[in-house]
Amino acid sequence: MAKYRIAWLPGDGIGVDVLEATKIVLDRIALDAEYIHGDIGWEFWRTEGDALPQRTLDMMKETDCAFFGAITSKGKDVADKELLPELQGKGYSYRSPIVRMRQLLDLYICLRPCKAYPGNPLNYRDNIDLVVFRENTEGMYIGVEFERVPEEFYAVKAMSKVPRDAALSLRAITPGGSERIVRAAFEFARKNGRRKVTAVHKANVLRMTDGVFMDAFRKVRAEYPDIATDDANIDAMGMWLLKNPLSYDVIVTTNLFGDIISDLCAQMVGGLGFGCSGNIGATYAVFEPTHGSAPKYAGQYKVNPLASILAAKMMLDWLGETDRAAQIEGAVAAVLAEGAVRTYDMGGSASTLDMARAVAEKL
Ligand code: NAI
Ligand code: MG
Repeated sequence: MAKYRIAWLPGDGIGVDVLEATKIVLDRIALDAEYIHGDIGWEFWRTEGDALPQRTLDMMKETDCAFFGAITSKGKDVADKELLPELQGKGYSYRSPIVRMRQLLDLYICLRPCKAYPGNPLNYRDNIDLVVFRENTEGMYIGVEFERVPEEFYAVKAMSKVPRDAALSLRAITPGGSERIVRAAFEFARKNGRRKVTAVHKANVLRMTDGVFMDAFRKVRAEYPDIATDDANIDAMGMWLLKNPLSYDVIVTTNLFGDIISDLCAQMVGGLGFGCSGNIGATYAVFEPTHGSAPKYAGQYKVNPLASILAAKMMLDWLGETDRAAQIEGAVAAVLAEGAVRTYDMGGSASTLDMARAVAEKL
């Protein structure tokens, strides 16, 4: 029996291409793992009314962690129309599989390292090395939304300023949820010799919710006197990051702000072809490239697999295979430094699999 069981979830579009590429690298490094394919994606929404079927969730429960490619999702109108006729009108409602995984499996950390590898022509500046800790289960993405404000809400006085025809989303921030993501960021900083943790918020406007988040930040940082801290408003942070990207190190923030800021950080180190992510809970984790299914490139083996290969490096770190993780990172860095093999996003013409083979050859 293999040492690790890994749920392998390619999903839609280029998720399939980049996972095939990633497998070349994992096979070369001889990880003692069994990869178990799981159904996920648009096809399963269309034909079963569930993009993340229960059998996939059940299978995941029997594995150590999961590796996920990408899924296609579409707006409500299109989603409802594409559902098989015999399933329509039966109460099926599309939900994002990745958001569901995060919530069902309590994967409260969304970890996104953003590092400018020397030789990557897409780097915004040299030496950028940021790590974003985004809270992954609460905040703006709890999925409590109303097309119209429910009448009974107007029993609360503050609601009187909300127009009757407003759509409404609720943002939930808990002390416990805030504390555990902040703690994860500080623990990471300490373990990895990082110098500073920056909290990103909008506490001057979102006084209650980000007040709770910042209370947690102040409480936890007192336990880590060895690590410098600061904080910034989300809007200002967008400017500061572009102006002084080297002034930041570890960033911790709530769900929606983290979603935004981590894409900004990813773009500074090469964009979607480089953005990798771990959705990490206490005992389970799902690793993925952050990009979507890019339907126009599906099956063309054209896109950059490095986001996915770097996500595999994160997975190995999480599994405790730190030597293999470092080897993969070293191989990626070597390929980028040489600059001979580049996918289209880097101005080259190498295919997805060419890039994976180039990385594998360095191992
Ligand atoms: P996308 O990330 O799929 O692609 C946008 C563009 O970025 C692509 O057309 C391509 O030019 C570039 N790109 C993406 N990945 C790349 C890579 N590995 N190498 C080089 N270039 C790359 O985002 P888009 O087009 O907004 O969404 C397409 C579908 O993916 C939608 O259905 C969307 O809902 C879904 N999506 C899924 C995500 C997930 O699975 N976690 C995340 C984002 C979008
Ligand atoms: Mg993704």
